[in-house]
Amino acid sequence: MRTLIIYYSRTGTTATIASALANRLDADKREIGCDRYTGGLLRYLQAGYDSVRGNLPEIEMAEFAAEQYDLVLIGTPVWTSHPALPVRALLARKPDLPARVAVFLTHGGHSPPQTCIDELAAMLPVPVEASLTFSSAQVSAGKFTDDIDGFASELESRTGQ
Ligand SMILES: Cc1cc2nc3c(=O)[nH]c(=O)nc-3n(C[C@H](O)[C@H](O)[C@H](O)COP(=O)(O)O)c2cc1C
Repeated sequence: MRTLIIYYSRTGTTATIASALANRLDADKREIGCDRYTGGLLRYLQAGYDSVRGNLPEIEMAEFAAEQYDLVLIGTPVWTSHPALPVRALLARKPDLPARVAVFLTHGGHSPPQTCIDELAAMLPVPVEASLTFSSAQVSAGKFTDDIDGFASELESRTGQ
């Protein structure tokens, strides 16, 4: 199963999960770059303000060839109950994706992650095959290995179906 992980992470939590998934699945990774929200409190507030308004930022990401992959995993933090704006900006470009797409997200534990998954699903050209969510507390406590293994095994079991 050739897998690509595309993700955005402002403060490293989603990046931790992306790396763990990449190791487990032997996957390639592409990080969405977005300078606008890098930094401290003012950038955090900017992110919240833009997120509520749906102001899509400039982003950067290395090219990828969708046809080289069987599966793409898209990872995002939850921002004001939405996928983070850099991920929304990428999906608004309608990138080429393979037929299999799954999502993972991290959140602060103060809004239901399903809203964010539903919004990702609405932006994608194919159904979301599977989803995985973690609170940032779980990630910082290092309590994610079993869930990642289960998620990866589920995705691998569907290969070739
Ligand atoms: C602008 C902004 C808005 C956020 N909104 C929410 C939210 O609505 N619900 C929630 O549970 N967490 C929210 N969070 C917390 C992040 O989802 C959480 O800390 C996440 O794990 C950060 O991921 P990262 O370290 O990969 O950037 C928000 C964080 C930011 C920066």
